[in-house]
Amino acid sequence: MCQVPEQGFTNHELATAVGIEGRTVRRNSPTIYNVAYAKRLFHDGREHWLEQRVWGPLLAANEMGNPSADGSIERIGTLSDYGGLFEKAFEDMGLGKETLGMALAGYQRTLVSGNSAFDRWYFGSEEAAVSEAAARGFRLFSGWARCATCHLVDRDHALFTDDQLHNTGIGSLHRRAAGGQVEVAPGTVVELDEVFLAPISEIPPGDFGLYEITGNPLDRWKYRTPLLRNVALTRPCMHDGSLGTHQRFPIARR
Ligand code: HEC
Repeated sequence: MCQVPEQGFTNHELATAVGIEGRTVRRNSPTIYNVAYAKRLFHDGREHWLEQRVWGPLLAANEMGNPSADGSIERIGTLSDYGGLFEKAFEDMGLGKETLGMALAGYQRTLVSGNSAFDRWYFGSEEAAVSEAAARGFRLFSGWARCATCHLVDRDHALFTDDQLHNTGIGSLHRRAAGGQVEVAPGTVVELDEVFLAPISEIPPGDFGLYEITGNPLDRWKYRTPLLRNVALTRPCMHDGSLGTHQRFPIARR
């Protein structure tokens, strides 16, 4: 639901994700393209190992809502379509918390993108691979626009990230239900006042980014520099989905 393969392993319709039973998730689903190479995981960088990352969404009450890790393993053990598969893949270990993480991490590590037009141009010196306008854009990106100070790209960095967390000014204390245009059906857009939206919308709680992990006030509103590879396929953007085509439709933000 949140990492839809056809939608760049994120979800184009929703600025912030919706979990089990329609529960509000306050952050945007980050894409899992190239996650094999990410040094920090989640928007606040709280996990570092893909094998461990799986338990966040599996157990979060507003995401997949499983009551406990052991309970989840027990439940998977009763499902006939997994019968014997974990034992076959992990001979000595069988089904368990570690091997579930290893299995899902193993799959996610295959979602690697490479050999893009940019790669052929920049790393492969194939001059005609990108348009002149794109080449000008890159000169700006890596030159005086200084994007590449955080979205690193050079011979040793192909991911457009410095693996650090920064406060870029997008953090928020709290959000309000906003009125505006709502797409009630594909192609049918109506103008709705905030008064109508507020009672049916759960307002996402505040978000302090890295501070929530470290407790250090200097870390307030710091978020991971996202990998920009495939950014054209992975809208909406930013930890709160604030940069995306669906910004126009506020109901999609809930
Ligand atoms: C100080 C470090 C820094 C600089 C400089 C910087 N960025 Fe970012 N960028 C970030 C961080 C951190 C985020 C994530 C912010 C968030 O989630 O709220 C981000 C997010 C983005 C995103 C959204 C990607 C996604 O998948 O969510 C795009 C696109 C982007 N930056 C492009 C640029 C461009 C273009 C420039 C230059 C004009 C630039 N950035 C300069 C740190 C930086």
